[in-house]
Amino acid sequence: MELQKIKRRNLLKILGGGLVLKLSGLTKAQALLGSPSPIILSTWHNQGQTANKEAWEQIQKGKSALDAVEAGARIIESDITNCCVGLGAYPDREGKVTLDACIMDDKGRCGGVAFLERIKHPITLARMVMENTPHVLMVGEGAQQFAIKSGLTLEERTLSEHASKAYSNWLKKSKYEPQINIEQNNQKFVPVPHKLENGNINHDTIGIIAMDKNGDLSGACTTSGMAFKLRGRVGDSPIIGAGLYVDNKIGAATATGNGEEVIRTSGSFLVVEFMRQGLSPEEACKKACQRLLQMTPNSTDQIQIGFIAINKTGEFGGYSLKPGFDYTVTSNVFNHEKRVPNSILN
Ligand code: GLY
Repeated sequence: MELQKIKRRNLLKILGGGLVLKLSGLTKAQALLGSPSPIILSTWHNQGQTANKEAWEQIQKGKSALDAVEAGARIIESDITNCCVGLGAYPDREGKVTLDACIMDDKGRCGGVAFLERIKHPITLARMVMENTPHVLMVGEGAQQFAIKSGLTLEERTLSEHASKAYSNWLKKSKYEPQINIEQNNQKFVPVPHKLENGNINHDTIGIIAMDKNGDLSGACTTSGMAFKLRGRVGDSPIIGAGLYVDNKIGAATATGNGEEVIRTSGSFLVVEFMRQGLSPEEACKKACQRLLQMTPNSTDQIQIGFIAINKTGEFGGYSLKPGFDYTVTSNVFNHEKRVPNSILN
């Protein structure tokens, strides 16, 4: 019923638009063929094209969307030069890298891990939580023990070269003393920087959502969270409904940016619910950004959020709070292409 509503709207769009589809619209192949046409979307283009290439290969081999999004997320987790994903990423303010991830499939199954240390592929552990336990979310030491029992390797606790440099610089600038817990001593709270040293805003989660050849949807989301965060801080990325949500009847959505704001609004769930009400993925992402703006108590010059979404017919789109966000789309028509979505603030 809901799907029929979406299909009817798209059909009207196609007829009304004389087959000139918006970039953030239905994949042309699917519009013409009327059969499931695989599509993959990832947050950001710098890492998204690498993730999408890997995930697309899986789809081409006939693998499921679930296998594809896990493979796409893993390749970014393996990149030791990435500032914001995997064990090479920037640490918390105690100098330790802690990782968050979650995964969700077409059957509504889901799993997440948070505050995870020394495990290279949190996304695979999230899948193990989903497939091999009765639970949805595991954290910290317990999640690490579960990883080791499941056969994953406990890696050395070392910072990558670039992360070590960035952390030393941050310590100098912030005058933060890891041994003396400034927050507990009621001294001034040392804020998390809004921008990284290279000028990028302090977030770069990879969220990846896909539809496979059967028309089934899955998604994955993985991050080290905000650089120099308070120890124990967890963002939106391991939280189903916040950083990621999939409803195989409707669509999938994922988020990047300041996790606190995304959690506050159940951002990805909200995007999928807006699609359920009949909005296109782009409109749904825009409306979620507007909701977020209404709800945030934080100054908007300090935050950025981007959402991306696909629906069951292969329509796709994104929206961000502010300019600067981009994403990657891959399908039979779009070859790991960059998309710069609209934003509600300039
Ligand atoms: N979106 C990633 C985080 O806030 O941790």
